[in-house]
This record gives sequence, structure tokens and C-alpha cells, in this order.
Amino acid sequence: MSDDAGTGLRCLVTGATGYIGGRLVPELLSEGHRVRCLARSPDRLRDHPWADRAEVVRGDVTDADSVREAMRGMDVAYYLVHAMGTGGDFERTDREAARIFGEQARAAGVRRIVYLGGLTPAGVPARELSPHLRSRAEVGRILLESGVPTTVLRAAVIIGSGSASFEMLRYLTERLPVMVTPSWVHTRIQPIGVRDVLRYLVGSARMPDDVSRAFDIGGPDVLTYREMMRRYASIAGLPPRLIVSVPVLTPRLSSHWVGLVTPVPRSIARPLTESLRHEVVCHEHDIARYVPDPPGRPIGLDEAVELALQRVQDAQVVTRWSSASVSGAPSDPLPTDPDWAGGSLYTDHRELAVDASQKALWRVVEGIGGDNGWYSFPLAWAVRGWLDRLVGGVGLRRGRRDAARLRVGDSLDFWRVEEIEPGHLLRLRAEMRLPGLAWLEMYAETDDRGRTRYRQRALFHPRGLLGHAYWWSVSPFHALVFGGMARNIAKAAAQPVPAGPREHTPAR
Ligand SMILES: NC(=O)c1ccc[n+]([C@@H]2O[C@H](COP(=O)([O-])OP(=O)(O)OC[C@H]3O[C@@H](n4cnc5c(N)ncnc54)[C@H](OP(=O)(O)O)[C@@H]3O)[C@@H](O)[C@H]2O)c1
Repeated sequence: MSDDAGTGLRCLVTGATGYIGGRLVPELLSEGHRVRCLARSPDRLRDHPWADRAEVVRGDVTDADSVREAMRGMDVAYYLVHAMGTGGDFERTDREAARIFGEQARAAGVRRIVYLGGLTPAGVPARELSPHLRSRAEVGRILLESGVPTTVLRAAVIIGSGSASFEMLRYLTERLPVMVTPSWVHTRIQPIGVRDVLRYLVGSARMPDDVSRAFDIGGPDVLTYREMMRRYASIAGLPPRLIVSVPVLTPRLSSHWVGLVTPVPRSIARPLTESLRHEVVCHEHDIARYVPDPPGRPIGLDEAVELALQRVQDAQVVTRWSSASVSGAPSDPLPTDPDWAGGSLYTDHRELAVDASQKALWRVVEGIGGDNGWYSFPLAWAVRGWLDRLVGGVGLRRGRRDAARLRVGDSLDFWRVEEIEPGHLLRLRAEMRLPGLAWLEMYAETDDRGRTRYRQRALFHPRGLLGHAYWWSVSPFHALVFGGMARNIAKAAAQPVPAGPREHTPAR
């Protein structure tokens, strides 16, 4: 490898817009490695603090040509992608992508593939596994058979700020003092802190060439989900939870329940709850031979929860479960040509003078959503979020990664940040289920007489007749929702900035 005297390896990272990949890149960089990211939407990595230290290429793991280009000159290739949640035949997509990845890595002379998959229960035939676990295991097998030395890391529940598993645990426990739970709360699992996962991922890059195998990775605790909820409540300072389990709650029903109570939508909760029916504990800890554990590591559940909560309180959540894009959501940015695609583009345009500086107005614009809400008719926004959840969408409650700052690619309730010109423009792209494409643009401006102006555009590109009908059916409410929003944003900008330390963010 190109690494003789500690010059660092050349690492290809896929999934850098996702939860794990987005955290791995800075870790690899700080170890002195060089990083190239393959991403479907490179723009979404633009505002990451490490963006100017990593190379980003456009690509898709299902497209052999782009993978071939990305693999060129690489020593190590990280496979941190999955098609789960895309509906359809995600197993086939993942199988095909893994095959392409293995073949292209081999052709490019890559020295090692590193893949993070799921821990599977011992002795359970593949057909009895949940589709998600079965697919993760299959991807591992394909990569191991690629002819390239491969490290497959198999983790159960990952605990870290913003991970789907942690958010599920947090919201369920914080919101429900009394819980009627499915029987899977009695299944034993071995969670692992995200910092240990990252340590193993980074360390795996330097495994000897003759090592090609799977490793179970987990923390020191083996416990049931019920116990995890109890431990969470105690660490978060909540009164003890009363947990009553009933056998009738299927994974399907549980995922509806999780979708209702937590911000994790049904599409992501379903594979997680399905997997929780299996006992997933480590059967070996051979990884320590190649990536030794420093004293006190891996960390236990309590410490992982404390660290995750601390990050949430300090608004230092680096990536979240919602960092990756939503299946079916458009990835193309808003074209500047208003006659785009030859179809109609409906617009709701509002503009008004603001009795505050452009900077003060921008602070309100950048702080929109999450706990601050949408500045008009909260019930209408909430109902829209619920309706979206009902049809399997992400709903309004994904909140914000950071209470004050946004970066391109952040999820923001049912939007995604598509463009930011700091101090001036915030453009959001809708990720709720809609019969068309929608954007919301907010501008903070100063006119030629030095007065601050707020400009807001809601844009909708309808798909088919249903799309047109949708726009016309909601347009009577626009004055209330968008007009009220513009007025209240202008008012909020004129308010003095509240002082004081940042408060703990309880689960909403
Ligand atoms: N998070 C956990 O708790 C956990 C637990 C155990 C194991 N794992 C494993 O860790 C790995 C990473 O999981 P994660 O939680 O980080 O996932 P994630 O947040 O959902 O991110 C998935 C990533 O895959 C990318 N991707 C999907 N399809 C792609 C394609 N066709 N071409 C290129 N990129 C594509 C996404 O890019 P876009 O942004 O373009 O969609 C995104 O960056 C997975 O193998 C997962 O099974 C995770």
C-alpha cells in the first residue's frame, strides 16, 4: 500500500452523505489518509467542515463506469451504502451494487475493501432473517468473494447522536412514561457506540493483506431493548418507565407505532424493528487482534448514551439518520430556467420590508424549522406533516441537526437544504410525498435605499393532473400559510436576540 512510512493510504469512501460515511471521512483525514468520496449529489458535501480536504467525485454504486473512475489509484475502498428504504427490490439493487463494487475494486488493484454490515443471529437460516439483515449479509458475502481482501464489520444497534437507533430509543423513552411494547423488547442485543465503530473502520484499512473475513463488533453490554430503555431513562434523569410487553405487536405494527411517536419514519423504523426480533450478540472479538482496544474501550451503553445526549445538548451532531437522501425525492437542484422542463411552475411570491438589519433577518431565516417552527399557522404545518406520515413520508418532525446553523444537504423537517448563500438565500427542497416537486426560497436582501427586504418564493412543479389539482386545492390556504409566514419572519427579525446559554433539547 502507499503507506510505508506513514504517508497515509488513499481511501475511497462511499456513503459520505450518510450517517456513518459522513463521520468516517474526518476520522480518516485526521489519521493522515487521503480521501476521495463517491457521492450521487456531490453538492451535498460542500458545506462539511472537511470538504476542502477531501476529493469528491460524482458517482453511483449501481453505475460501473462511475465506480471504475472512482476506484482509480485507491488503496482502500469503503462500502457504506445501502438501498434500504428505496422500496421495490432493494435486495436486488444492493446485490448488483456490491457485485459492481467488488469487480471494479479488483480491476483497479484496490488492496482492501471495508464494509460495515449488520450482525446476524447465529444458526438462523437466511430465509428466516429479516429482508434487511439478509441483504446486509449477502452484500458481505459478495464483497468477500470479490477476490479483494475484504473486512466485513458486523454491528447490531449503533448508539451515537443522530443515529436512527438512538433517536428511536430516545424518543420512545422520553415521550412514553408507560409503554405497551412488542415482545421484541425481550430480545438480547449488543449495542456499540459510534466512536468504536469508527475506530474499527479506520483501523481496518491497515489489516494485513492475508486477512479477508467478517468480524463481529459490539460494546461490552448485552441487554434487552427493555433494559436499554430503562437505562436511557435513568441517564436522561427521567422517572422510571413502566414497560408492559404484549405478544400481538408485529414488526409491521411496531414500525407504525415508532413512526407515530418518534421522528424516525416508518420506512426506516420497519427494517430496524424487524431486525430487533433476532438476538444479535457478538460471537467473537477477533477484531482486537488487528485493531487493538485502548483501555476502557469499546465503551458501554451508558457511556455511549451519555456522549450522544451531550452532543445533542451541545448542538454538535455531525451527521444524522436523515443525512442520506429520501428515496424518491428529486436530487436535481432547482433549475434557474423558470420554464424548466416545458411544464408549468406555480409560484407563490411574497415580499415585504423588514424593520431590522439584513443580518438579523438572516438569523431568523437560517434558524427556521425544528423547535422554531415555520412562523405561521402551526396547526396547518403539523397536519401537513401528519398527512405525509400517513402516506409513508418523512413527516415534519425530523427537526434540525444544529439549532442555529444549516449546511447544504441538511434535512430540515420535511425539507432538505439545497442551497445556501450565507446572509442572503436559503433554498429548501421538499421531501414530503407530493404529486410534483416543490421548493421554498427565502431571501434576506438590502434594497438600493439601504432598507432590508424579505423575499419568499414557494415553487411547485406539478406531476400530471393530480399535481395541478393539488396546487389548486391548497392555494386558498397560501395567503394564510405563506403570507403569515413572511409577516412573522419579518416580525421575528425585528425582535431582540434572546440571550442566555443553550438549553437542553428534550425530544419533541
Ligand atoms: N446506522 C446504523 O445504525 C447502522 C447499524 C449497523 C450497520 N450499519 C451499516 O452501515 C452502513 C452505512 O449505514 P448508514 O446508517 O450510514 O446509512 P445512511 O445514513 O442511510 O447512508 C446511506 C448512504 O448510501 C448512499 N447511497 C445509497 N445508494 C447509493 C448509490 N446507488 N450510489 C451511491 N451512494 C448511494 C447514500 O447517498 P445519498 O445521500 O445520495 O442517498 C448515503 O450516503 C450500511 O451498510 C449499514 O447497514 C449502520
